[in-house]
Amino acid sequence: MKVLRTVADVRAWRAGAGRVGLIPTMGALHAGHLSLVERAVRETDAAIASIFVNPTQFGPNEDFAVYPRREAEDLALLERHACAAAFVPPVAEIYPPGDATRVTPGPIAAPLEGAARPGHFVGVATVVAKLLAIVRPDVGFFGQKDFQQLRVLQAVARDLRLGAEIVGCPIVREPDGLAMSSRNAYLTPDERRDALALSRGLFAARALWERGERDPRVLRERVRELAGGSVALEYVSVADPLSLAELDAPSDSVVISLAARVGGARLIDNVLLGMDLADLR
Ligand code: PAJ
Repeated sequence: MKVLRTVADVRAWRAGAGRVGLIPTMGALHAGHLSLVERAVRETDAAIASIFVNPTQFGPNEDFAVYPRREAEDLALLERHACAAAFVPPVAEIYPPGDATRVTPGPIAAPLEGAARPGHFVGVATVVAKLLAIVRPDVGFFGQKDFQQLRVLQAVARDLRLGAEIVGCPIVREPDGLAMSSRNAYLTPDERRDALALSRGLFAARALWERGERDPRVLRERVRELAGGSVALEYVSVADPLSLAELDAPSDSVVISLAARVGGARLIDNVLLGMDLADLR
């Protein structure tokens, strides 16, 4: 596996790589990230993962400084998963002195994570636009775990004509249901147990959906009942999966998403109902 540190390194590698799949990450890799790598390896000639803890997507009181950084382990994992290359730039390679241009996504970035984390999606859209411009992949692979991020980036790639298809991949969970996340490392054993309420709430709403319940208020309430007891819910949303507009009337497809504080960690999770990830473009 080639470890690339500069834009020039990437451009030289890209020239002979064929159909390329890019997997952007912030490192501290787990099975969720690696599922994206595996998919890229299967579906393209060469998979390239980026590891970059992007400063512009963190708010001033967020966890940028303490975000887990484990480059050596991450590179070993990528190599073992047949990644062809890893792009691990220093901050100054992505944000050189004088860098000032930012990508502002449209209304799809306004609710949910956009409302809870002002500026977050400008940072995400900017860094991913840069990564797509540097690597020029045929396909970019992103997780459903960050559902709104996936939808924002599909819009950015489409609107800016970035030339990459943005593909969504299912959420990888721990055997007990907790969605895998680099931030799970912040949880104490007790908090880890409390965090299970999140997936339990979402699965309970999914069970209602499977029995025919379509009222968004009933679905939202079910999540709140099951998840709200042991964790501090920030929001529970039942929204249209395409626009992310909050629903108050029954719909054939919904994304139920939530964010919560569990101890020092801020966790998000979601379920997509009545629609396939593959139908999102
Ligand atoms: P990060 O949180 O490292 O996630 C990188 C990719 O892995 C994202 O597409 C995310 O949705 C996906 N992912 C994380 N946990 C997952 C899980 N349990 N199952 C499936 N996929 C999962 O998301 C980011 O980094 C950043 O915002 C980034 C896009 C790299 C821009 O900086």
